[in-house]
Amino acid sequence: MFEHLKEQPADKILALMEAFKADPRDNKIDLGVGVYKDADGNTPIMAAIKQAEKQLWEAETTKSYTGLAGDPGFADAMVSLILGEAVPRDTVAAAATPGGTGAVRQAFDLVRMANPKARIFVSDPTWPNHLSILKHMGIETVAYRYFDNETRAVDFDGMMADLAQVTGDDVVLLHGCCHNPTGANLNLSQWREVVALLNDKGALPMIDIAYQGFGDGLEEDAAGVRLVASETPECLIAASCSKNFGIYRERTGLLMAVARDADGRKLNQGTLNYLNRQNYSFPPDHGARLVTMVLSDAELRASWQAELEEMRTGMLALREQLATELQRLSGSDRFGFLAQHRGMFSRLGATPEQVARMREDHGVYMVGDSRLNIAGLNRNSVPILAEAIVKTGI
Ligand code: LMR
Repeated sequence: MFEHLKEQPADKILALMEAFKADPRDNKIDLGVGVYKDADGNTPIMAAIKQAEKQLWEAETTKSYTGLAGDPGFADAMVSLILGEAVPRDTVAAAATPGGTGAVRQAFDLVRMANPKARIFVSDPTWPNHLSILKHMGIETVAYRYFDNETRAVDFDGMMADLAQVTGDDVVLLHGCCHNPTGANLNLSQWREVVALLNDKGALPMIDIAYQGFGDGLEEDAAGVRLVASETPECLIAASCSKNFGIYRERTGLLMAVARDADGRKLNQGTLNYLNRQNYSFPPDHGARLVTMVLSDAELRASWQAELEEMRTGMLALREQLATELQRLSGSDRFGFLAQHRGMFSRLGATPEQVARMREDHGVYMVGDSRLNIAGLNRNSVPILAEAIVKTGI
């Protein structure tokens, strides 16, 4: 039977990660996969997480199953972190998932159950795995314009013109903050316009939020999501704890479905539980428990927030340094967008050939669409990167 299987295309981001590991050059720079790195190139375990792990080891008395939606304390803590007071808690169904990707996948599954005709509108570009999962599931996707290749900012007019085509059967996938892969984000008044359009058309918003706290701050980064949740009748929110809690391999995420009322929530909760049971039964608990502990304990939470803020401001400083260095070397302001973008990523706007030359000639690894991970830099590698960019003629 297995002979009928077809070769599957390698995931480009993960393939790049392997290629970087295999490169013997000492001076190589990894700007590929979206993993935070400190100035020494390490992905540290955050102090609050380490502390919570210690406490958990002491206090945990069983590894028996949790609920199908995971520990309710995790859902409560995450709903509050992401949605704040935006909507009544009794309208929000939530289920823990294996990472943010698990939440995205369950959300698509729920959409398909609710409306097999639904099309999903995705930003052009979006995280490539959105497209890959949707293709695998056989769900129709429609791209909407998002990024202006000239200005490297959001092409908001194009976006609104394309979203004007949505119908009440459709879902519009939005990035909550720190757009992956471009780094270009909607401002709050643009979020308002998107919300008004979706309400007008009756389309369902779905938000993927994987980088809360990496852009303008924990509260600021949640503003768009909160607006959508409070101003639209229903929405889906897929959240990841991988990046902002630094627990990538623990696979910790949450899917939220915001309903019109408490009765709607009951139906949604049953569906989320059912979907977890069908796909993997109980969601992983270890990372979720650590996150719950960190968010519920004042001292751990303060430590986590301080460390996250340090990571965020560190990335902002690198952005500023890179933009300044490029301005100096190129004598032009055309790289100013790097300081305007937010989050881990920016799309540089290089051609695939230039990206390949950056890798071959300078040992700089970025994704083929010229997405670079700012956290892969440090103060010393910024000038090296800037020089390579200018030498490559980008
Ligand atoms: C990324 O975009 O690099 C990250 O979200 C990691 C991944 O799974 O692709």
